[in-house]
Amino acid sequence: MSEHATGIEHGKGIPVEDLTADQARQELVRLAEEIAENDRLYHQDDAPVISDADYDALRRRNLAIEERFPELVLGDGPSVQVGAAPASGFGKISHVVPMLSLDNAFNDEDVRDFVGRVRRFLKFDPLMGALAVTAEPKIDGLSLSLRYENGALVYAATRGDGTTGENVTSNARTIKDIPETLEGDVPAVVEIRGEVYMAHKDFQDLNARMEANGGKVFANPRNAAAGSLRQLKSEITASRPLRFFAYAWGEMSEMPSDTQAGMVDCFGTWGFKTNPLMKRCETVDELLAVYHGIEENRAGLDYDIDGVVYKVDRLDLQERLGFVSRSPRWAIAHKFPAEQAFTVLNDIEIQVGRTGALTPVAKLEPITVGGVVVSNATLHNEDYIKGIGQDGEPIRDGKDIRVGDTVKIQRAGDVIPQIVDVDLDKRPADAVMFEFPTVCPACGSHAVREENEKTGRRDAVRRCTGGLICPAQATEKLKHFVSRNAFDIEGFGDKQVDAFYKDGLVMAPADIFTLEERDKRALTKLRNREGWGALSAKNLFEAITARRNIDLHRFIFALGIRHVGEGNAKLLARAYGSWTAFYDAMTAAHDHESDAWAELNDIDGIGHIVAEALVEFFAEDHNRGQLDALLAEVTPQEAEKIDASGSPVAGKTVVFTGSLERMTRDEAKAMAERLGAKVSGSVSKKTDLVVAGPGAGSKLKKAQDLQIEVISEDGWFDLVGA
Ligand code: IVH
Repeated sequence: MSEHATGIEHGKGIPVEDLTADQARQELVRLAEEIAENDRLYHQDDAPVISDADYDALRRRNLAIEERFPELVLGDGPSVQVGAAPASGFGKISHVVPMLSLDNAFNDEDVRDFVGRVRRFLKFDPLMGALAVTAEPKIDGLSLSLRYENGALVYAATRGDGTTGENVTSNARTIKDIPETLEGDVPAVVEIRGEVYMAHKDFQDLNARMEANGGKVFANPRNAAAGSLRQLKSEITASRPLRFFAYAWGEMSEMPSDTQAGMVDCFGTWGFKTNPLMKRCETVDELLAVYHGIEENRAGLDYDIDGVVYKVDRLDLQERLGFVSRSPRWAIAHKFPAEQAFTVLNDIEIQVGRTGALTPVAKLEPITVGGVVVSNATLHNEDYIKGIGQDGEPIRDGKDIRVGDTVKIQRAGDVIPQIVDVDLDKRPADAVMFEFPTVCPACGSHAVREENEKTGRRDAVRRCTGGLICPAQATEKLKHFVSRNAFDIEGFGDKQVDAFYKDGLVMAPADIFTLEERDKRALTKLRNREGWGALSAKNLFEAITARRNIDLHRFIFALGIRHVGEGNAKLLARAYGSWTAFYDAMTAAHDHESDAWAELNDIDGIGHIVAEALVEFFAEDHNRGQLDALLAEVTPQEAEKIDASGSPVAGKTVVFTGSLERMTRDEAKAMAERLGAKVSGSVSKKTDLVVAGPGAGSKLKKAQDLQIEVISEDGWFDLVGA
């Protein structure tokens, strides 16, 4: 996860209504990065690190800022994207109809608000009769889209980023709840959407088998389902007992029913499993009764659910309601509250991250919370242990956390659990306040909390000052360097980094690329190491060689510069085009009076904090030294140059809305950007052009109100001459 910032303009922790425009801009960038990172951890790595509630809070803050500062909305920000881009390894499939996400309700009041909102939107007053809404369990698995043509399964795709998913067809064919051919009279094109999940019993059996074979076990059924579906070898998926519930659809050449419940009934007759607990309700009280009924019986179900989904039943009303950014206005997920349990805190361990952040981790007496065994919990930082919140306010009524304490653990969804309370009655008489180390446990250097010059407050995070001499920082940096969105070297993961570092084989990134040469000169002899045969060494060297030519944005991201996540690395690569141009600019930008500094800050999406972190990184001699060594081995490729000469949309801000038929959203965005336009997710005074497809709603209206030029998708193709 991204580490805390200490910048001056930074708006973190400031209420949305008090943010200045500059702080809001910074906050939107920071939130976009943090949300994207968490999306990636959740969707690609199946390993989320924050709770659903914290994730939702990030998104809510993002939306609130976007509402206050619509002109600052990022074209590729979180309100425009759903989930994470597809992971590599599988082919990609564009969803003809995007796969969206659901808004959340957390209590009965939120559900009443939802129904009220729907009625107001539709002007559906009580005199018009009942507004039917369905209620069904929210299955805790992963969504899948199945395309059938003339009744035969053509492909199966994961959600991915909502627009493009992974092609997992051969794996899906091994799931017995997914029919190869549909029964009865079915439309020519049918896309069934639903949830792949693993039943409790199957999950336990699978883990027992994995353990018996000496393998790693899955933390919960959702991870097991995701890990099993996204296997590159379908024989492995076939050996995993996956199941599927159908509950939604994408493209349909014909609609077999005009209600939600009717559609799901049809899916049943075509050969799909549908959830037997789905009910059609006519009042909010009925919906809530279904919710509480399902919640009470949750433990008796054979699969994990994390809430109840409500959907407006009539499809004509669904159509009128449409979507707000990434979720339908006609549906909402009513989430179950987080699960809690008490256990004893055995120890507090300090981990050192890539940028030297010291992160405390609670080592717990293992306890089952909501069916999952928990033995670690996050403690965030020093203040959190002391009972002090982000803005200096007391948390847990100011109670500190001590080794030996009985603590209340909360697990929401399948993320790292939190300690939410301490039972003081059970505190051992000899328990002492935790003393947070002021030296790094890995290298012994001083660990300090930097001060924010403007607020005068100390950063919540204590950092090791050891830099390169700190083995923990060095190995974490290397792990980042080889990680999936950076160099992505096959067969070179965390385990290899630790082992090679320990033996002095790879101390810095450049060493990875000289391994083979040193091996040849008998300096390292990988194949003599335990577990390394000639073939595994050869494979590793090949994987390393394959990365000697690397995309510029991956290269920039791999450097692990503070605040430069994947999104910022892409912006930089696109803005500078080549490594030399980027490097020269970063060096020149050290002088804040220079044009280079002004240009860096002018890049849309790059704020002062990021700019400052960049110039600081390039000003450090040891960073330059490592870069020189690395560049002797690898060649960053030129980024795709934007040739906007003669483009009719160069420099214009364009918004795409409604459904597009000739291209996917991603394609539209990429095409516009190639032509030198900036693509934004929302319409404001700064918008120059709106491309509206069928179903366009509020954005189209706003464009008309602001008298902004609106064209159709065909009009777009005519305009750009494609
Ligand atoms: S309806 C347009 N129904 O929840 C919305 N989703 O947060 C279509 N999910 O991506 C989704 N059970 O993976 C729907 N009964 C259910 C569901 C369900 C689980 C998941 C699905 C979706 C996510 C949204």
